[in-house]
Amino acid sequence: MKDLTNRRWVLRRRPAGELRDDDLELVEAPVPEPREGEVLVRNVYLMVAPTNRVWMSDIDQYMAPVALGEPMRGMTMGVVVESGRGDIRPGDVVEGPMAWEEYSIARHVRPVPLHHGLPLAALASVLGSSGLTAYFGLTDVGRPKAGETLVVSAAAGGVGSIAAQIGRILGARVVGVAGGERKCRFVQEEFGLAACVDYKRGAVLEDLRAACPDGVDVDFENVGGEVMDAVLAHMNAGARIAMCGMIASYNATGDWWSPKLFRNVIMKRALIQGFLISDYIPRFAEGTAQLAEWVRDGSLKYHVDIVDGIERAPEGFARLFSGANFGKQLVRVSPEPLA
Ligand SMILES: NC(=O)c1ccc[n+]([C@@H]2O[C@H](COP(=O)([O-])OP(=O)(O)OC[C@H]3O[C@@H](n4cnc5c(N)ncnc54)[C@H](OP(=O)(O)O)[C@@H]3O)[C@@H](O)[C@H]2O)c1
Repeated sequence: MKDLTNRRWVLRRRPAGELRDDDLELVEAPVPEPREGEVLVRNVYLMVAPTNRVWMSDIDQYMAPVALGEPMRGMTMGVVVESGRGDIRPGDVVEGPMAWEEYSIARHVRPVPLHHGLPLAALASVLGSSGLTAYFGLTDVGRPKAGETLVVSAAAGGVGSIAAQIGRILGARVVGVAGGERKCRFVQEEFGLAACVDYKRGAVLEDLRAACPDGVDVDFENVGGEVMDAVLAHMNAGARIAMCGMIASYNATGDWWSPKLFRNVIMKRALIQGFLISDYIPRFAEGTAQLAEWVRDGSLKYHVDIVDGIERAPEGFARLFSGANFGKQLVRVSPEPLA
């Protein structure tokens, strides 16, 4: 496209610890025409995610790290401007791994089925990969039963807030862990959790014991670190741990955290299973249908936290690590088409 200019973030340096200003650079580039098999997408939402920090590093991981000098990879959702694919037309909404940029040329995108009355922000959060991670991580890996105690860490976040509510819908007694009194109140009042432990109070072990008088049957783990150590200390026999993420370690400059009480996995005959949402792509339609039904009947609420402008992508990303975000953090790159 001759008259379109793209602004995109390029990875200049691998962060040591927290992302710093010079690690990424905002550059301008012309927008090329899509070739056969490609689409040109006007990005609407950039779904910044903690795992983006892992992609910035060169540790052994589940996909290739972002190369230095390359656009920063990110999951985005946007509107097709031009298409070189027979199955996708201009105006369609698509999502996939693209980049922290205004316009993307992409090959591996999937069309997003629109849900009448739901904004794109819902499709980019509760019906997108955050909601699907919560859904499959809980129903396929953690599998809480009615009456069991489920602990969800980062309970006010994009994945955690949905996992906690799905646990409640399935009949579990759900205890969240979140940073700060305000967040704890938020998850109880907004999402109906039975209790919430404010790990920033500095007594997570004792507070979790008090919040889980019958012990912990299932842990939906988003954090690792001292939060997970506390869960391991209170596990019941036969507990299941769905290892979704370890955000407490993503900025580590040395080794990642390892559990202090790993022996309890034996003592309590516990099952730990890690999972990646990408393994569930063939079942996305099933997950989205169930999540949409719960959203429509009012049993599942979602909350999005939006910062506007591609130039603010690093700021939006940093909010995930400071804990500033309530619900799913999105960066709105351009206006929604469905408003
Ligand atoms: N396995 C998969 O396929 C998959 C897919 C998506 C996401 N994930 C993982 O799921 C987790 C949540 O992701 P999300 O996108 O929903 O992010 P999020 O929960 O919306 O945001 C991250 C939250 O983590 C908490 N946090 C940050 N640093 C922390 C620390 N050092 N100790 C304790 N809590 C900390 C903050 O909440 P507080 O204010 O409560 O501290 C922050 O709001 C991440 O670990 C992510 O990597 C995994």
